Formats: sequence, C-alpha cells, structure tokens
Amino acid sequence: MSGIEPYFKINGGRRLEGEVTIGGAKNAAVAVIPASILAGAPCRLENLPKIEDVYTLKDILSSMGADVDFSPDRGMNIDPREIDNFSVTFDMASSLRASYYFLGSLLGRYGHAEIALPGGCSIGSRPIDQHIKGMRALGADVVIERGIVKAKAKKLVGSEIYLDIVSVGATINIMLAACRAEGTTTINNAAKEPHVVETANFLNMMGASVKGAGTDVIRINGTNELHGCTYSIIPDQIEAGTFMIAAAATRGDVIIKNVIPTHLEAICAKLMECGVSVTQGDDGREFFIHIKSDSRPRAVNIKTLPYPGFPTDLQQPMMALLCTARGNSFIVENIFEERFNHVAELRRMGANITLNGRTAMVEGIDTLVGVPLRATDLRAGAALIIAALMAEGESTISNIRYVDRGYEYFEYKLRALGADIQRMG
Ligand code: EPZ
Repeated sequence: MSGIEPYFKINGGRRLEGEVTIGGAKNAAVAVIPASILAGAPCRLENLPKIEDVYTLKDILSSMGADVDFSPDRGMNIDPREIDNFSVTFDMASSLRASYYFLGSLLGRYGHAEIALPGGCSIGSRPIDQHIKGMRALGADVVIERGIVKAKAKKLVGSEIYLDIVSVGATINIMLAACRAEGTTTINNAAKEPHVVETANFLNMMGASVKGAGTDVIRINGTNELHGCTYSIIPDQIEAGTFMIAAAATRGDVIIKNVIPTHLEAICAKLMECGVSVTQGDDGREFFIHIKSDSRPRAVNIKTLPYPGFPTDLQQPMMALLCTARGNSFIVENIFEERFNHVAELRRMGANITLNGRTAMVEGIDTLVGVPLRATDLRAGAALIIAALMAEGESTISNIRYVDRGYEYFEYKLRALGADIQRMG
C-alpha cells in the first residue's frame, strides 16, 4: 500500500457488540447549510456531523464572503450578511453533489447564482434537469455555459411545478428558491425523504411557509422576510442503517442509539425478513434499535425506491450482508443506473454475484476472504468495510476519502464495538 493515501486495515471475523450513537444526518446537513443564507441574518446549526462534506460547505460559504465558524461539539454559526460572491467554482463543487443547493438559495436570496455542475458519487449520470426546470418555472433565466449553471432573475414568481421524476435534490432546491418567490409554488411528485421534511422545518423556523413536506405535494408561500434561527439536525438514518447491517453481518449484538424509528422502517423490515432480531425501544431520553444475530441471514429480495421504500443508500451495505446469506438474493437498483461499482470488489473476496442491468443476483456462500479493496463511492466504501468485518483474514480498503465524506468517526465507532480496524498511511 502506498503510504501517501490513508487506508483502512481490517481483520475480519469478530462480532460487533455494545452500543453506538448516531450523529446528525449528512443529507439534511448538506441541504440546511446552503439554505441558511436565505435568511440574510445569522443562523446557528447544531448536531451537524463531523464529515468532509460539512467542512467543504463551510469553505464554500466562506468563499462567498459569509462569516462561518464550525466545531463538531459547538455547532456551526453562519452570518451571511457580508456575502458578495454568488458563485461556486468547479474545484469547490467537484467533491460534493449538494453544492447544487446554492443554486436555489443564492437565486432565492440574491436573484443570481453561478454554480459549477455538481460532483459527488459516480453512481450514474445524475442530471439536474429537474432542478433547472423548477428554477425556470419560477421565472429565472438559466443557461449552462462551460460546465457552469448560470441563473438570474429580477423577481421569482410562484408556479405550479410537476417533477418528471421523484428527485430529492430538485424538491429541496425548488423549495429553497420558492421561499423567496412572490406568491405560491406547488411542487407535485415531490420527494418525501426525511431530509426533505427537515429542510422544510428549518425554512419554517426562519419564517418561511412550507406546507406538505413529507407528502408528494409541497406548497410554499413566498415571503420577503426570513429571520435567523437555531436549529438541530435530525439523526442520520443511513448511518443508523449502516450500523444495523454491520451488526447483523458480524452476527453481533448492538444497540444503535439516537435514531428516529419511523425513518428506519424499510431496513428494519428487511433485516427481520433475513431472520435478524430487531427490537426498538426508548431509554426515556432517546429511541434505540437493538440488533442481534447469531446465524447466517436468510436470502431476501430488495427493490430500492424513493422514501418510504427501501433506501438506495443502503443497497450497497445490504449486498455485503447478503453475500453470505442462506440462498439467492435479488437486488434491483431502481434509483441510480450505475450503483453496482462495489460488485467487482466483493467478487474479489469470493462473493458470487451476477449482474443483469439494474438487477444483481447474490448467491450466498459460506464466507468471504479478506483482500486489498478500493472504495469507488461513499456507500460502496461502507459496503466494503462491512464485507471486510465479515471476512476471514485481513483486508485493506483504499480511497477512504469517500467514506470520510459521509460517516463521522467511523473507525472509532466500529472499534468501540469490537472491530479490529485501523486507519493507516
Ligand atoms: C440524494 O441525491 C442524496 N444525496 C443521495 O445520497 C441519495 O441516494 C438520493 O438523494 C436518493 O435518495 C444528497 O442528498 C446530497 P435524486 P440526489 O435527485 O438528490 C434522477 C449518499 O450516499 N434525477 O433523488 O442527487 C437521478 O439521476 C447520496 O448519501 C434526474 O433525472 O438524488 C436519479 O436517477 C448518494 N434529474 C433519480 O433522479 C434531476 O434533475 C433520483 O435522484 C435530478 C435527479
């Protein structure tokens, strides 16, 4: 292994046991941080996860002229009153997809935005045509020149918008711009993910009028006046699901604390179908999910769908678990057209996986073997870490900068549960 890029070294075959506490939700944080400039007054965000994407967004806000300070235990203070630069450059946008939320927030607050086409995980083409359709519907002129989305509007006017595809990003981005539009905007066929609801709650805390978030019709009454606020981010349902799957994959006994059970219904149901013991409770302060397993999981079939269906972000971790299931599992990835990049790496560990378009057939084998691995995207990295925890022998996982984008203190939390994992290099 080259000593330059950090990598994980994992000795597999150990049960995860104990308790883990879930941090703030990445996909809520990356929406609420850009949204904070809509107020034109200072905001304070708490329970943000200590992940690379949050630091990148802090740097983007600073490059615009905002006054931002962030520390994981004290939260993020954002004062947008000195913003005088309405652009996000390619090198800033290339590492994270959520940079596109500055399109809606800058357009909503200043009537002007120049945002480099977003980066993020290579899991498909990931166009932003629905975002642009929404901004144009609100009256903005939008062109794409040399990879930069340039949008401007003298005035945004509320509109009836129908999304051609259920899109989390487009739903949130249009909500942001519509908050400052004149009149009412309706978003039909809206995404219902928890982070859509979270962003709407944050906007309403700032004095916006967003109704219906969490359903497929969201109505926004634009307003001229938004004020600052203090807001605490919800727990990350994908981090929680990742630890639930890791506990089941290592035949472990783990309590996952600080969760919102309604956000985890699909993954709880699927793990119970696998024969894993899943119980939930609350200790008087917070909800928890208790995962116990002492045998190979049963094979199951998975179809990823928009919320409340099975989340695409847990498809890859679940595939790792199913590599040693009893029987054949079929996984259909309905959201992204190229979200099987982890399959080649799992095969090198001995997994028996056949791909046919958007369907993967996973024939369960007795055990995986540890080998050198490379993460190709954030959730593929999580899947490979789970596979390495399950495998016999030592694995190394390179490209872990992907993992650092979305999981805070990941190796520390896993080590506290008994995993033999070290960050090297
Ligand atoms: C968000 O991505 C999340 N990222 C993704 O999480 C998540 O997998 C995805 O929603 C689905 O839940 C963030 O929130 C930062 P979409 P997003 O727009 O907004 C197509 C992770 O691992 N589409 O709901 O990009 C698109 O190509 C990341 O945390 C268009 O065609 O997802 C995809 O096939 C990965 N045109 C489908 O819609 C558009 O204008 C759903 O995409 C927009 C999207």
